[in-house]
Amino acid sequence: MSAYKIIEHEYDVVVLGAGGSGLRAAVGLSEAGLKTACISKVFPTRSHTSAAQGGISAALGNMGEDDWRWHMYDTVKGADWLGDQDSIEYLCKEAPKAVIELEKYGVPFSRTDDGKIYQRPFGGMTKNYGNGIVQRTCAAADRTGHAILHTLYGQALKHNTEFFIEYFALDLLMKNGECKGLIAWNLNDGTIHRFRAHTVIIATGGYGKVYYSATSAHTCTGDGNAMVLRAGLPLQDMEFVQFHPTGIYGHGTLITEGARGEGGYLTNSKGERFMERYAPKAKDLASRDVVSRSMSIEINEGRGVGKDGDHVHLNLSHLDKEIIESRLPGITDAARLFADVDVTKEPIPVVPTVHYNMGGIPTNYKAEVLTVNGSEKTVPGLMAIGEAACVSVHGANRLGSNSLIDLVVFGRAAAQRASELVKPGTPHEEIGESETQKCLDRFDKLRNANGENSTAELRLSMQKTMQSKCAVFRTEKTLKEGVEEIKKTYDGMESISVKDKSLIFNTDLVETLEFDNLIRQAVATVDSAYNRKESRGAHAREDYPKRDDEKFMQHTLSWCDGKNTKISYRPVHKSTLTNEVQYFPPQERVY
Ligand code: FUM
Repeated sequence: MSAYKIIEHEYDVVVLGAGGSGLRAAVGLSEAGLKTACISKVFPTRSHTSAAQGGISAALGNMGEDDWRWHMYDTVKGADWLGDQDSIEYLCKEAPKAVIELEKYGVPFSRTDDGKIYQRPFGGMTKNYGNGIVQRTCAAADRTGHAILHTLYGQALKHNTEFFIEYFALDLLMKNGECKGLIAWNLNDGTIHRFRAHTVIIATGGYGKVYYSATSAHTCTGDGNAMVLRAGLPLQDMEFVQFHPTGIYGHGTLITEGARGEGGYLTNSKGERFMERYAPKAKDLASRDVVSRSMSIEINEGRGVGKDGDHVHLNLSHLDKEIIESRLPGITDAARLFADVDVTKEPIPVVPTVHYNMGGIPTNYKAEVLTVNGSEKTVPGLMAIGEAACVSVHGANRLGSNSLIDLVVFGRAAAQRASELVKPGTPHEEIGESETQKCLDRFDKLRNANGENSTAELRLSMQKTMQSKCAVFRTEKTLKEGVEEIKKTYDGMESISVKDKSLIFNTDLVETLEFDNLIRQAVATVDSAYNRKESRGAHAREDYPKRDDEKFMQHTLSWCDGKNTKISYRPVHKSTLTNEVQYFPPQERVY
């Protein structure tokens, strides 16, 4: 057996990740009387949910008439008909309840004059099936994620969730296709821990850091996704990577879509409001894939701003100062800090920036992980939620503010499902040592790697390749080059080097483990993109400009052993859960 001493733990349920979805699940599990551990590599209130700005969608109807069916229609359409309609129905119907629950937990939402939760317009959110803009995005100024995260952490502590903070998860413990727990490394004292659980809920967020310029934090490395791949399970729809239209040029810092929701607009070097040409009805509030592509066309056709003509302007200076101060204080600071811009006087330089992964771990609407063996089947003991999961409510393109609602609706669903499946205090069955050993062998190999390639160099090479070869617009040629270059970078791992061999706060080793996680997802992403020969949502192929529903109204499944990917497809769920809403058939997207 390994030289590492292992500290044992037993829980009914282990939640991996302490962002919005992980914390919402932990609250529900603890409330249900399940002994719950929540493991996180960062302090919970530093999770990336804190960076979510503009708001959380729910058809509350506080600012005019609204209906969850309209929200569902917008989400199905925004997803370019790749979303599972049973999951989308569940999301939109449960959303108002989930937001009211957050209000009761104590989230300090902005208020209307009559004291209701303030809601702002957001891209792709419409009334009456595409007939006009609706105000559906509930906001706490432009710090909504931060407000939700802090409130949920307080609730989890109140409900006695046990936290393991600054523990880095290494791998899942699988036995005969079932998940039995996980292994984690305590960064603070260097010890190794085996957590046995009847259910593991992965809530580790997205993997934006496979790209060079992203709104994601340095910690967004999709660790849970990579653990799933190493467990021999597939990821889904990895080719769908969302570019947010307004990352600050040169920095990637997010400028919320709420800025356009409050009346901001984009202009090119001629001062034209170019979105009027691309989306005559929705204009600057078209869905993100449409706005990002329009910006890229303006830049590529020579109408970008700046000395290199490689970005555009976001204008807010015409807005009422009171609106800027009360509803957009965070981005006012960010623009000053990162672009040296006073938004009341000058435009912000912005460029489409990687923001969200629609793909991830396939699940059903109860958050149970799916695999495919002929037909869909659930993986006992394993659930996934939040950006790590592909449930799939966002399909090929997520609407802004549908991410925060996804976190809390499916965090809650996971807790409900786990409490149906797990009886508190059920004894754990024996598991052999071989899975633990396999996990520690990988850990030990990386820790003692003495090659010539630094992790930082390999990561940069991966990020630059993804940024240029798997970008807003893609072609057979760029993707093929991307596949080859990424595999070469993967090969570079054979000769990777970790200089620090210690076990305590070894950031060299943490970053190497994270890189090992990222590169597998980069391979799965670029391979999936190469194989999807159509354009849909965020996947824009110049050589296949049309959506091909006959061949590709299907989810991509990718099994990846690191360097090689096996691809297959599974049908989109077109049926809904109830007869309260009809199936929405695919149609052209007009904005
Ligand atoms: O633009 C934003 O505030 C981001 C919101 C989201 O991604 O949902």
